[in-house]
Amino acid sequence: MKKLIIGNWKANKSLAQAQTWLETVSISSNRLDLSNITPILAPAFSLLDSMRPVTTELNWQLAAQDLSPFPAGSYTGAISAINLKSLSVSYVLVGHSERRQYFKETSQEVATKAELALEAGITPIVCVSNLTLAEQASAFDVSLAKRCIIAYEPLEAIGTGNEASLGSVKEFKNKVKLLFGEVPFLYGGSVDELNVGEYLLVTDGALVGTASLKAEQFINLLKTAQGDKPAVT
Ligand code: PGA
Repeated sequence: MKKLIIGNWKANKSLAQAQTWLETVSISSNRLDLSNITPILAPAFSLLDSMRPVTTELNWQLAAQDLSPFPAGSYTGAISAINLKSLSVSYVLVGHSERRQYFKETSQEVATKAELALEAGITPIVCVSNLTLAEQASAFDVSLAKRCIIAYEPLEAIGTGNEASLGSVKEFKNKVKLLFGEVPFLYGGSVDELNVGEYLLVTDGALVGTASLKAEQFINLLKTAQGDKPAVT
């Protein structure tokens, strides 16, 4: 499996800023080798459609940062899995700690969202921390968990520059394996172009927030990731 490198822009960037970012990336990613990596861009909902022509041309994938816990229908303001699928979205983040904290999202809702995403043909990337892993596992039935990607995001590492130690990431990966079986496993939390190589030694990819906001920095990170070795279990 190629390493998944996801740029999560969160609620940043106007349309004009997003376009400038993509122009920079298009120019400098000309010679970017994608044989070992799949770059995935997760902009705000409102930017997905305008990012699409460029991500398609670059052979990158699109992800959404969330989706509605309801199916398509009369749910004003919601963005359903079907809405996302029609925009060529291949992945969706569910249960990011910021969703759990600020939007009071529960593990049960996260499980429902993952189910709806899978039904629409979108792969859910389920974000968990030490605080939410056990609860999330009990909200999932085994067959659902096996079709998800799990991302370990320790709260203290998100947006702080205090990235987790490699040892703690490996330890968490073992816990995930016990609970969910062999599922693709990502790490997120202060990942940058300097430390991404290390994390890719023990994971299937990285979730990148801050270091994805500047186009040049993200390209450097992708180049480092591309040159890296396969995961060790
Ligand atoms: P960060 O964010 O890279 O800024 O720590 C990661 C995330 O929240 O996914």
